[in-house]
Amino acid sequence: MRFKLTVLPGDGVGPEVTREAVTVLRALSHFSDCEFICEEKPIGGAAIRSHGTPIPETTLDACLKSDAVFLGAVGAPEFDDRPTDQKPEAGLLALRTALGGFANLRPAVSFPVIADCSPLRRSRVEGADVLFVRELLGGLYFAQPRGFSSDGHSAFNTMRYSAEEVERVARIAFEQARMRRKKVTSVDKANVLETSQLWRRTVIEVAKDFPDVQLDHMYVDACAMHLVSNPTRFDVVLTENLFGDILSDEAAAITGSLGMLGSATIGGAVDLYEPVHGSAPDIAGKGIANPLGAIASAAMLLRQSAGLRHEAADLESAIRRVLDDGYCTPDLAGEKRKVVSTHELGELVEQRFMELLDRRFSYHAV
Ligand code: NAD
Ligand code: IPM
Ligand code: MN
Repeated sequence: MRFKLTVLPGDGVGPEVTREAVTVLRALSHFSDCEFICEEKPIGGAAIRSHGTPIPETTLDACLKSDAVFLGAVGAPEFDDRPTDQKPEAGLLALRTALGGFANLRPAVSFPVIADCSPLRRSRVEGADVLFVRELLGGLYFAQPRGFSSDGHSAFNTMRYSAEEVERVARIAFEQARMRRKKVTSVDKANVLETSQLWRRTVIEVAKDFPDVQLDHMYVDACAMHLVSNPTRFDVVLTENLFGDILSDEAAAITGSLGMLGSATIGGAVDLYEPVHGSAPDIAGKGIANPLGAIASAAMLLRQSAGLRHEAADLESAIRRVLDDGYCTPDLAGEKRKVVSTHELGELVEQRFMELLDRRFSYHAV
């Protein structure tokens, strides 16, 4: 199988973590007939510097013609003062719109061996395994009108959702819950916002098609509190674009580092895989970024887009094994932990992955 992957390293630590994720994916070709044909394209600040725009046409074309897209991160402080539509982040938002994926899956899992790296007590985070299903193409991020008043003294954004937009992402959340612990918590602000009242009503309708899945509702402010005080109460958290952006970064604290979280965006013409974190300008260029969120995104790609569920499970096991052996980047440093560089951690995962694949494929050969 030839798998066409468009790779968008982007800015800051984006290229550093992307390199590791792509190397790990390519290791598969030693063991199976799955070959990743990777084409790198610019996006974000890097694209502004090379092409004068955060998302060149050639990048969009390549993405739309591929089997999946892998993105590192976008954003650079030098572009902070630009208008919104000319910032590096505008490139990512335009890409998401063009690819059409409306459901952004963001798992946050506490691994026992690094539970003490969380700022939360081990007893609270142990066993936590939350899947955020974040609506990605609607809400405040995209609705019109938006802008500044002519005197620049006021500014406005619009929160808008249609029932169709809510329904399609809710269906994905219930389907995901069916494959897990069969519980959906829908998060909104229905005590204040009409968009949330529509959200809640629509989710209740969709739930009728999934009688085996338990549904509860929570206001977003309370959810922010429950996530850190009792994260194990959650299975799937379904929420709108901005709430999902904020809550998933908060949930990174459960895992110990924002660098641990991967994501998959599904439902559109081409699926998009990216770590949850940004370009991390404070640590970029030092070789210390945690590549595991990017590698976890690669595992999601193997499962969702390449149909290689065993290989995806092997890659997830490889990540766990490397952590179990004590290796980590500085964000997860601690007692009895061995701090290595981004590249060294990537290599260790690759080695473990190859060992697991070797075992799997030699077993099937006998
Ligand atoms: P950030 O996620 O880049 O960083 C937040 C904190 O987490 C920083 O202290 C950083 O050092 C740390 N961190 C992030 N990734 C890490 C990793 N892999 N390993 C270890 N530590 C890591 O968020 P920010 O600083 O608020 O934003 C920086 C830029 O990134 C902004 O331009 C923002 O718009 C952009 N951004 C892009 C994406 C994306 O491309 N998907 C996501 C979030 C933010
Ligand atoms: C994320 C980021 C993006 C978002 C930005 C960079 C547009 O924070 O992927 O979480 O807000 O969706
Ligand atoms: Mn974010």
